[in-house]
Amino acid sequence: MAALRTAYIRFKSMLPEPLREMLSAVNQRFFARKTVQRKYGGWFDVDWRKKFRSFSDEEWQRAYDEAWKHHGNRCVEETDEEMILAALGGPGSVLEVGCGAGTLAIRLAHEGFQLTGPDVSTEALKQAEERARREGVTVEWRQGFVEHLPLPDQSFDYVTCCHTLEHVKDLQRSTSELRRVARKKIVVLTPQQKFRMYAENYHTQFFETREQLIEAFGLKEYTCREIDCIDHRNEFQGKAFLYVGLLEDPSNEAVPFPNDRL
Ligand SMILES: C[S@@+](CC[C@H](N)C(=O)[O-])C[C@H]1O[C@@H](n2cnc3c(N)ncnc32)[C@H](O)[C@@H]1O
Repeated sequence: MAALRTAYIRFKSMLPEPLREMLSAVNQRFFARKTVQRKYGGWFDVDWRKKFRSFSDEEWQRAYDEAWKHHGNRCVEETDEEMILAALGGPGSVLEVGCGAGTLAIRLAHEGFQLTGPDVSTEALKQAEERARREGVTVEWRQGFVEHLPLPDQSFDYVTCCHTLEHVKDLQRSTSELRRVARKKIVVLTPQQKFRMYAENYHTQFFETREQLIEAFGLKEYTCREIDCIDHRNEFQGKAFLYVGLLEDPSNEAVPFPNDRL
């Protein structure tokens, strides 16, 4: 089944853009909502993208707790971990934001980094904690939102945020927070995607081009490359961006957002 899905995604990615768009428009108009609802059932809010702006923090947390109870949202794979490790460089402290069930945090802890893993979902953190205990590594798990991290400025050498930035309610607040708590580097992995109203996920932010992601952080020094995750076995298959924002050089000040309060 997974192989069939991968073959379908690869086939779709090879189609000319206008044809791909036409098929998607037909699917969105007539089938997607029902297909997703049938596949996931009552716990999944198929109209998430219409409603998410009005959700309170409690409603947001409850929705992700339900998602983690019923489905799981693991996206980071071993190949991603290798790329992230290479991007981080030397040892130090890492804040793995939106750590989910702890895949990347636990791997980085095994590599000798000091890890803190915040996520909005206590259900995800419970799964992460159990796994870390089984694997004998120490990670400080914390419930919290990317948009308001209860942490001092520049309190971590590295900040990673993988397959989570596309889930946040407020992109500008989230990128400001990631920038604020990082000392050396910010490493972000996020899908390259167009907006679709109905899909099998709670994505709220869409990065169609690398410029959109670069602009969201507003840093002068960065790298951003497209990576192919179509053959991945976890939750996410498709193309993604790996963004590395560099903060170490004091002259690399963030270009402030128009209403940036930090
Ligand atoms: C697709 S999962 C990715 C999990 C993990 N990073 C991985 O790649 O396996 C997205 C994660 O973001 C978390 N999340 C969603 N909105 C969030 C927010 N505003 N602040 C913090 N975490 C959030 C979810 O609970 C979920 O664990």
